[in-house]
Amino acid sequence: MKIAAVQMNCRFNEPERNRRRAIQLLERTRADLYVLPELFNSGYWFSGREEAQAAAEPVPEGETCRVLIAAAKRLRCHLVAGLAEKAGDRLFNASVLIGPGGFIACYRKIHLFDEEKKWFDPGDKPFAVHDIGVAKLGLMICFDWIFPESMRSLALQGSQIICHSANLVLPYCQAAMVTRCLENGVFAVTANRVGQDRRGGQSLSFTGRSQITDPRGRIAARASKLMEEVLVQDIDPGRADDKWLNPANHLLNDRRPALYQS
Ligand code: ACM
Repeated sequence: MKIAAVQMNCRFNEPERNRRRAIQLLERTRADLYVLPELFNSGYWFSGREEAQAAAEPVPEGETCRVLIAAAKRLRCHLVAGLAEKAGDRLFNASVLIGPGGFIACYRKIHLFDEEKKWFDPGDKPFAVHDIGVAKLGLMICFDWIFPESMRSLALQGSQIICHSANLVLPYCQAAMVTRCLENGVFAVTANRVGQDRRGGQSLSFTGRSQITDPRGRIAARASKLMEEVLVQDIDPGRADDKWLNPANHLLNDRRPALYQS
């Protein structure tokens, strides 16, 4: 199975252009599963909740899902992509999973980062695994990485590949994903942004270096810091089912939750 991280430079508030660019990038390189960045259609750095509301779309009825559904059908692939979701009065930083047969699932970011708390409501549904036939996928978004519980919960449910849409601004995640993948025995596709959002004379830079990490914590592929690119790896998702680190130690069964109380 070929998995891909689409590293792109999104332009703030240019959803049509960003959707077009994303499709161009994923058409360049054949893969079975593509992961796009967080908020890939709108850009990241909103001035307030009203601006986030204006950029948000209903899922899966909105234009971004419509374009992604058409692309997944045409390219016969699965896609995970981040976008702002409008759900009545509520707004979520979300990612959608779409396959050749259409919309499959939406994940609402559980751990909001910094100013996102002013723009979005925190995710209201638990982490979940999605079986797409060739692999079992878990979705998380950017800052979810800093909470070990995010990937642990996805691994305990049987996820083989963590689809990690990101707009990273801190320098820690790429190194941390080595441990997250090793401790859970899973693959991760971290699809990050490059470039900047410039707002009101200030700018926020995104760190690039998208990464595909394997179940033994090896960095299978890493993108550059500044350039748009598509990272692809050929993997066997079944490798994530082997949680034995050695003949005596099983990553999940050896846990001692009864002794983890504070
Ligand atoms: C982040 O969660 N976008 C840093």
